[in-house]
Amino acid sequence: MQDIRVSFQQLFNSSASLVVQSPGRINLIGEHTDYNNGFVLPAAIDKCVQVAIAKRTDGAIHMHALDLQESVIVPAVAIQPHATHWVNYIIGVVAQVQKYIANASSNSATHELVKGFDICLQGDIPIGAGLSSSAAVECAVIFALNEMYQLGLSTMQMALMTQQSEHEFAGVKCGIMDMFASLHGKSNQVMLLDCGSLQHHYYPLDLKEYQIVLFDTQIKHALASSEYNTRRLECEQGVEILQKKYPSIKTLRDASKQQVDELLKTEATLIGTKVYNRCKYVVDEIERVQLAVKDLLAGDIKAFGQKMYETHEGLSQLYEVSCRELDILVNAVKDHPQVLGARMMGGGFGGCTINIIKKSEVEAIINMVADIYAQQTAHILKVHQVKIAQGTHIK
Ligand code: GLA
Repeated sequence: MQDIRVSFQQLFNSSASLVVQSPGRINLIGEHTDYNNGFVLPAAIDKCVQVAIAKRTDGAIHMHALDLQESVIVPAVAIQPHATHWVNYIIGVVAQVQKYIANASSNSATHELVKGFDICLQGDIPIGAGLSSSAAVECAVIFALNEMYQLGLSTMQMALMTQQSEHEFAGVKCGIMDMFASLHGKSNQVMLLDCGSLQHHYYPLDLKEYQIVLFDTQIKHALASSEYNTRRLECEQGVEILQKKYPSIKTLRDASKQQVDELLKTEATLIGTKVYNRCKYVVDEIERVQLAVKDLLAGDIKAFGQKMYETHEGLSQLYEVSCRELDILVNAVKDHPQVLGARMMGGGFGGCTINIIKKSEVEAIINMVADIYAQQTAHILKVHQVKIAQGTHIK
């Protein structure tokens, strides 16, 4: 990446007052559990977004995306979703911050934020790969605004506000995992996050003679965000049925496997087997994450990896968020003795698989998978070898 302070100076003819860096994330296990108040096991990575920012006085927000060479200017008041996709990840956050200020103080109308700012951004997180590049932008922006305007937001508040921004300005009803991981990541540690209480614990990730490798399908099917929102609704439909008999069930986190079998399997003819399959996957996965963490703590990477394969099976067959390309990548390694685990990662319908591969075999396995992928699809495999890194911070 370029020196973003130099780019800022050239673009806006003034100095940046602040540079913030926010990482992408991987997730070892716990997929589509976050919006069901379940557990996830993500970590921030050494691929990131950087923003440079400084105040203006004329009421305009000037934005420039260095990687795309695109500039957009909008007024700093009455912010609405914008036709240019990336712009929404900035102004959506501004809208949340303005809402927060309006609720928090009486003289909100005079708050400096309405005077606007200059911002430029760049990053090296592959877009559409399921590594949460959009959350990284949102987290970098809110962290920078918080610092520059001395808003006093906690990183917990920032996570919730950026999630809301994604709902309102990107139209994806995402869970909290991506933002939380980007803001709270620690070097060499994975985080077990309880998405219900937001309590989290860090564990060192010691994979011994194994390492994480990401295989990137290099595709993102168009239905990703609409199907994502549909999955959320299907889970809520399941909860509604469960609640009639068990009023204490507020989310799938509160439901047992037995309850899901009892009520959703028998109702399957009325509601369709889909809702049963979705809920069964989620309840299984919430349990699986907790067991997988025990494996990790016991140093049993083989058992951990096996659970990753089980997760993929569930995501592909029951939750139906995988796709042909992702399945090809997982099948390519499934029976390989030096690959302990593999599964699709993130929302699905494209993006990456996450694999645990014996260090000494990484190169050979990459070559093998690349061949299979080229033979069976029209795409070229891309490989990312990431390190676990620190969360959002000032540069
Ligand atoms: C996307 C969402 C997350 C999470 C994952 C699936 O990355 O942004 O909130 O739901 O999909 O686990």
